[in-house]
Amino acid sequence: MAEPFTVLIMAAGQGTRMRSELPKVLHPVCGKPMVEWVIDAARTAGAGRIVCVTRPGDGVAGRLPDGVEVAEQVEGEGTGAAVLAARPLIQPGPVVILSGDHPLVTPEHVTGMIRDHDTHDAGVTVLATDELDPTGYGRIVRDAGGEVERIVETKYTAGVPDELLAIREVNLGTYVVEAPLLFEALDQVQLDDQGERYLTEVIPVVNARGGRVVAHTTADAGIAVGVNDRAGLMRAEQLAGERILEGHARQGVTFLQPASTRVETEVTIGADSVIGPGVSLLGTTAIGSGCEIGPHTTLADTAVGDGAAVIHSYAVAAEIHDEALIGPFAYLRPGSVVRAGAKVGTFVEVKNSEIGEGAKVPHLSYIGDADVGERANIGASTITANYDGREKHRTKLGKSVKTGIHTSLVAPVDVGDRAYTGAGSVITGNVPEGALGIAREKQRNIEGYADRVEEDSE
Ligand code: UD1
Ligand code: MG
Repeated sequence: MAEPFTVLIMAAGQGTRMRSELPKVLHPVCGKPMVEWVIDAARTAGAGRIVCVTRPGDGVAGRLPDGVEVAEQVEGEGTGAAVLAARPLIQPGPVVILSGDHPLVTPEHVTGMIRDHDTHDAGVTVLATDELDPTGYGRIVRDAGGEVERIVETKYTAGVPDELLAIREVNLGTYVVEAPLLFEALDQVQLDDQGERYLTEVIPVVNARGGRVVAHTTADAGIAVGVNDRAGLMRAEQLAGERILEGHARQGVTFLQPASTRVETEVTIGADSVIGPGVSLLGTTAIGSGCEIGPHTTLADTAVGDGAAVIHSYAVAAEIHDEALIGPFAYLRPGSVVRAGAKVGTFVEVKNSEIGEGAKVPHLSYIGDADVGERANIGASTITANYDGREKHRTKLGKSVKTGIHTSLVAPVDVGDRAYTGAGSVITGNVPEGALGIAREKQRNIEGYADRVEEDSE
């Protein structure tokens, strides 16, 4: 098969054992729907066309990436019915069939199977392993010559003889088949007791018609995992997670405690970054090189420059520029931009605000809808009062502004470059450049107060 080949993905199963409103193949594994893992493997393997079989109205078709063709399984149940649904779209010649519930199938296995299929001049090539707990999988029965005689389904074991249940070698739901031989064989397959048409039942038919059915075996238990229930989903999630971490590790990223680290598929991480225990990197998060992330940090859709540190913190749709320091215990909400060398410290929440280059917000602050100038220093517990009960307003702090501790900035308000605010001030009006804004009750002392209190209590 030198030319680009066609891949047919079966993704229209009911997946009832997932006990979910979401179709099985849309369940995410490390943040990417299972069926997309399969599509990506097919693309990397060099698929020319990808046809995905979906159920009308199940929402899967609308979630498929561009360029994937859809065949609707309108009638019939079972993997055989799924393949038949794609019949009008498939040209004569070899076709790769993948299962939408095997997210960890690799491009190498697809290309390896295509090679084997060619070499053996096979009618059907089946991917098989004996490295898995075979419970529930189709068991491979080989003939005296070692070719595949039939596959015995064991989803329901009633009536399956013990010697067949003792077989450890299972079918992984990945095939290379010849069209139209396959479709003609499927036409002859009887429905089972549950009214399903099993794709695997084509094997005796192909054998009877003189076609060869060969098994391509793999010892990679990882790629073998099929997801039929949430336990299978957990295994897939774990193995996919390890695969993702290993990929980053090979590119120069250190993971201090991989078992507690979650990195979703689209995340990028630069070399020499160190990812500590309990870190989740989600969505489109992109981390530069030489960063320290964690322990216990979650970053979703967040961009981090080079040499930044984000410790015990949580950020969503934020930008953290080079050499910035975040945390411990900071919360960056969407639209937070922390410029190079700036610091957002302990128990600080930032939302829709820019913290200028080299500026510091070290302790106990809420900075919302604000622009904090370069090298500004925000005193502990400075709060922007950005919401008047109806609308949000902006606060603007100029370059090198220094707010005293416990400053309230009642927006809209503008504090000029190099200006100060007095500790405990409630700033409701603009502070000009270089001025000190102070807005609090002047202190008065009541002499002899303690003596009076003590007299009263006698
Ligand atoms: C299937 C194989 C079994 C193999 C196992 C590997 C059959 C009969 N059995 O069993 O030999 O060991 O995979 O994981 O093929 N699908 C449809 N339409 C349907 C039914 C299923 O598109 O009507 C799709 C599903 O979405 C899924 C795939 O086909 O992606 C496999 O179906 P599933 O029901 O999970 O089959 P298994 O019982 O796992
Ligand atoms: Mg399955």
